[in-house]
Amino acid sequence: MLKGKNILIGITGGIAAYKVCNLIRLYKKSGANVRVVVTPNALNFVTKLTLQSLSQNEVYVESFEIEEYKPEHIALTESDIFVIAPASANTISKIANGICDNLLTTTACAFSRPILLAPAMNTNMWNNPFIQENLFKLRNNGYHILEPSSGFLACGDTGVGRMMEPEDIFDKTIKILSEKMPFFGKKILITAGGTKEKLDPVRYITNCSSGKMGIALAENASKMGADVTLVSTFPQEGCYTNIVAETASEMEKVVKEKLFEQDCVIMAAAVADWRAENYSEEKMKKGEEDSLTIKLVKNPDILKEICEIRNSAPTRISGSQNSSRNSTLPLGEGCPVIVGFCAESENLIENAKTKILKKGCDYIVANDISRKDIGFNSDKNEVYIIDKDLNINKLEKNSKQNIAKSILEEILNFSKIKLIN
Ligand SMILES: Cc1cc2nc3c(=O)[nH]c(=O)nc-3n(C[C@H](O)[C@H](O)[C@H](O)COP(=O)(O)O)c2cc1C
Repeated sequence: MLKGKNILIGITGGIAAYKVCNLIRLYKKSGANVRVVVTPNALNFVTKLTLQSLSQNEVYVESFEIEEYKPEHIALTESDIFVIAPASANTISKIANGICDNLLTTTACAFSRPILLAPAMNTNMWNNPFIQENLFKLRNNGYHILEPSSGFLACGDTGVGRMMEPEDIFDKTIKILSEKMPFFGKKILITAGGTKEKLDPVRYITNCSSGKMGIALAENASKMGADVTLVSTFPQEGCYTNIVAETASEMEKVVKEKLFEQDCVIMAAAVADWRAENYSEEKMKKGEEDSLTIKLVKNPDILKEICEIRNSAPTRISGSQNSSRNSTLPLGEGCPVIVGFCAESENLIENAKTKILKKGCDYIVANDISRKDIGFNSDKNEVYIIDKDLNINKLEKNSKQNIAKSILEEILNFSKIKLIN
């Protein structure tokens, strides 16, 4: 569930620090990348070596060990969520008052994404009016306080102050992440790049697609919480699973195999319409002839084929219709939403409308490749999103990153997705 998510754990000086070892394991088992920042006092309760071994990452303590160009408290804020457990009375009070006297408190001050605090302390400390006042301040400012339970405490007393159990902190983390990330728990497959239709071991026919739009979609879908698979014609590193499929046939195989695992499939790759009928195992030699004829045969129309498969699949959700998929279904609860791309050099809208009807997908994203300032190889794009009822929405010229974000937001809005709670 947490594949591709970056979780920052903060540990302070309290007995319950040992329990956080289990919490790290839960996050890791769920696929998250876990980083740990501790207060110097926390190291009296749990060792750096244990935390390093469990998180498989460096453990951060001091603010002044800058190895890279970014100070650590800023680098650490690039995590999706900050879970401080146990949160000592001391650290709670410092954070509530903007005090930044160690790496953990400084990071908390600079952190703009959700912060969860799991207090753990003696009952009298918990009931102390100053502590309660500080907790009130934090709650009012959007911090998530994971209320401690009542029970036997390490100090020998019985009362409120026991840290929430790691399993429950884990569940709260999932819930908060899913509220903040609209695609959380959803799987999206995105294709990117121009396919390379091979003639022989060294030559191929391809097109001008750079794959930038598909990569921007993958990056943004991942930021919005989705579990992304990028099927690209070239290797690409990022917060997603990358499968390289160079030819249309290879891409067809991967996309069909993965189709029903997905909540959404976005076909942004420029799949060649044609490939050489015969592939030469040996490099074709230049002879005396002045011309060469290569017979091309049609490639599979992946978009059309996956739409046919999807549309004729047995109903997976009561009330849905196979032939005309109800676009108000929550994303993925039934069958994947399918989005196609079309690149046109003339009659953009008309051709895009014809294409969506012919292919049977839910949305088509149309871009004008006759313009030099957008589209192929450019970092900018301007597109029209057309749904299957032929409603048109223009996304004005913008960076491919912003266009990608808007396309994903459109998919969310058009599909009227029920966000997971
Ligand atoms: C054995 C022992 C256990 C402690 N347990 C807690 C605790 O559970 N909660 C707490 O708020 N403070 C506890 N403290 C006190 C904190 O360690 C102390 O307030 C310290 O300054 C916290 O520093 P930090 O917030 O920078 O980690 C404990 C201290 C000792 C010696």
